[in-house]
Amino acid sequence: MKLFIDTASLEDIKTANSFGVLDGVTTNPTLLSREQADPVAQLKNICQIVNGPVSAEVTSLEARGMVAEAKRLVKISPNIVIKIPCTVEGLKATKGLTSLGVRTNLTLCFSSSQALLVAKAGATYVSPFVGRLDDISAEGMALVSDIKLIYDNYGISTQIIVASIRHPIHFLEAARVGADIATVPFYVIEKLMRHPLTEAGIKKFMDDWKKLKKILDK
Ligand code: E4P
Repeated sequence: MKLFIDTASLEDIKTANSFGVLDGVTTNPTLLSREQADPVAQLKNICQIVNGPVSAEVTSLEARGMVAEAKRLVKISPNIVIKIPCTVEGLKATKGLTSLGVRTNLTLCFSSSQALLVAKAGATYVSPFVGRLDDISAEGMALVSDIKLIYDNYGISTQIIVASIRHPIHFLEAARVGADIATVPFYVIEKLMRHPLTEAGIKKFMDDWKKLKKILDK
């Protein structure tokens, strides 16, 4: 499973990238607004850090506007993937952009029917939002499993990005159901390698090593 970081923070992207396991980045208007920088410049900087797909979201609500925005956004870098909401207008824009060879990430996916239609329109990626479904007492990961089943039934090549991840268990479940990608906020990425027994084990090894050194130095 590929690991994307879900942020527009250059600092977090640089740190996560230094771990050597980062495959891409997803942003959205909320994440970019947090950085209080020019979004085009911010996206350009992100693309210079990460060697992989970087999702940039359109803000137009109609297909024609989405396509026009997408044409401007792809000029930023070859890394750019156009993030489009799962609406009828989004479907039309996806169909048009796919025919132009532009990669798309269909976001705000909350149902399997949306996932099937965006795949038919040629979406490169679909992003089911698990955390926001869990928030309203619906099972986010059940949606991911269902999309995976449907895509496998028809040999659909649209890749599933598990989005709206809130904790390490979301990341693990994404891998268990066979999602292609998990896009993970930095505070969750940091937790993925942490284990109290690893830390306690290192401490014990270091303490014993120091004891041995003391004996040898006598
Ligand atoms: C992913 O593409 C989205 O930007 C993101 O995962 C949304 O997460 P949230 O529900 O925590 O805002």
